[in-house]
Amino acid sequence: MPAPLRLGVNIDHVATVRNARGGTHPDPLRAAEIALAAGADGITAHLREDRRHISDTDIDALSALLRAQARPLNLEMAVTQEMLAIALTHRPHAVCLVPEKREERTTEGGLDVVGGHNWITPMVARLSQAGSRVSLFIGADPAQIDAAHRAGAAVVELHTGAYCDAFREGDDNAATEELAALRAGAARAAALGLEGHAGHGIDYDTVGAISAIPEVVELNIGHFLIGEAVFVGLSPAIARMRELMDTARPAEPMA
Ligand code: PXP
Repeated sequence: MPAPLRLGVNIDHVATVRNARGGTHPDPLRAAEIALAAGADGITAHLREDRRHISDTDIDALSALLRAQARPLNLEMAVTQEMLAIALTHRPHAVCLVPEKREERTTEGGLDVVGGHNWITPMVARLSQAGSRVSLFIGADPAQIDAAHRAGAAVVELHTGAYCDAFREGDDNAATEELAALRAGAARAAALGLEGHAGHGIDYDTVGAISAIPEVVELNIGHFLIGEAVFVGLSPAIARMRELMDTARPAEPMA
């Protein structure tokens, strides 16, 4: 039997809507509470260097909430000394290191662990010593997966954006190729003893194929769920995603 598949709900874009007016509504903390009640296993939040959505105060509140509920907080952050200090203050269950560029709209690609080995490795060590499970957000590239292993990460989160984009654009060849790369990447990571997560750009149409990859044990999904919540509400959107994940998970490991 493949391992159970967890859902981490990324609540960044609740903060995006809040910040559009500069007030306190909608509150990402309330979204986190609703998400957990609706079937999320944990909450993911990205504290960006420019604080364009999640704020330091949000992280304080989320950290306290999740600790009180004994549920995992997955803090996404850039590989900087400022972020390291914040993570060491909160010691979240998980830290996912991501690349960050100020001019990008969202996290566009994976971390270059091969090129950044000398500054990523000590960061992984500090965070791991503090008790956080460290994940590296990378493309499904064998060289990056091997480098993540060498860097001492416990987890790799495979970037699913290229697969999801190709699928939405109706480019079947590219979607098939990207999905094959994700499958191979998840298998390679598992063979090295790395836990496999996946995320970015996942929606109701793409969640099935990704959930069917047996070595993937956690999905982190944000933008689509928060967008869908505008139409149907956050709880039903999460419940539907959970249902699609559970339906797609194969009963037996794939050959
Ligand atoms: N995983 C990581 C590492 C991310 O950076 C993001 C986007 O912040 C997500 C998952 C969620 O992506 P999306 O919002 O497209 O579902």
